[in-house]
Amino acid sequence: MGDREGVEEQRVDMWAAGDAYDRYMGRWSRPVAGGFVTWLDAGAGLRWLDVGCGTGALAATVAARCRPRAVVGVDRSVGFVASAGAAAPEPARFVVADALALPVHDQAYDLAVSGLALNFLPDPAAAVVEAARAVRCGGTVAAYVWDYAGGMGFLRAFWEAAVQVDPSAAIQDESRRFRLCRPDPLRALWVRAGLEDVAVAPIEVATVFAGFPDLWEPFLAGQGPAPAYVASLAPGLRDRLRDTLGRAVPTRSDGSIALTARAWAVRGRRPGGTALGRAPG
Ligand SMILES: C[S@@+](CC[C@H](N)C(=O)[O-])C[C@H]1O[C@@H](n2cnc3c(N)ncnc32)[C@H](O)[C@@H]1O
Repeated sequence: MGDREGVEEQRVDMWAAGDAYDRYMGRWSRPVAGGFVTWLDAGAGLRWLDVGCGTGALAATVAARCRPRAVVGVDRSVGFVASAGAAAPEPARFVVADALALPVHDQAYDLAVSGLALNFLPDPAAAVVEAARAVRCGGTVAAYVWDYAGGMGFLRAFWEAAVQVDPSAAIQDESRRFRLCRPDPLRALWVRAGLEDVAVAPIEVATVFAGFPDLWEPFLAGQGPAPAYVASLAPGLRDRLRDTLGRAVPTRSDGSIALTARAWAVRGRRPGGTALGRAPG
């Protein structure tokens, strides 16, 4: 058995342990959720559906900042839904369900949104159509995904280091797996779903790590593609990856590492009806 412990190609995206996910990605998905709701500028008193809600970063942001009438988060992970429910501010609530078969009536929501999840769904195009079914005419369907190809600094550095020590990692590099996560493919997906007034915008957040352990240790927690890849490595190769990554990232004199992470956000309006306006506050 070699360095990879017999694993030829591992593409298991683990979504189960909410606390581990939050240490790895949830801490960055919360600020990007904030940028996203600012960009939507949707106003108060609306009904929101959060598809692929995970541990609830976006739904909690909506509940805290948008004065919604209702917020329902939907995710297939029982563990993540439990974490989301344990920390949810009113009126957010969470249910276990598949994004491709949402357990909601037609046109029951004003907005269907999704954070960092679209590229992990088995059929993103069908998921956008399903989300559009859930919103009223004139309602909004919107999402954001990481810019894996260039703008997501610590993941870019991670996969470049991984390919350096293990060329077979290239096939798992999220920039290669998730070609949807660029402005043109996202716009095309929304247009093909019949949505109108489609717009795409970048959302950038600072990702500052206290030191290299703060950046590296969440990769050992097993949640998501890069940590799942790390879990597949034998200890020797894992150590080489850690050291290569440690040398590659820019470390400041106080030991901290300041990178940025960019997401692409997309939104469109379901035809007919009246567009979302700012409800009287
Ligand atoms: C990267 S996480 C994003 C979670 C959260 N929205 C955030 O911003 O932190 C991707 C999520 O997609 C969910 N997911 C994957 N396939 C799904 C499906 N078919 N239906 C619903 N959720 C799904 C996973 O369980 C996971 O919670």
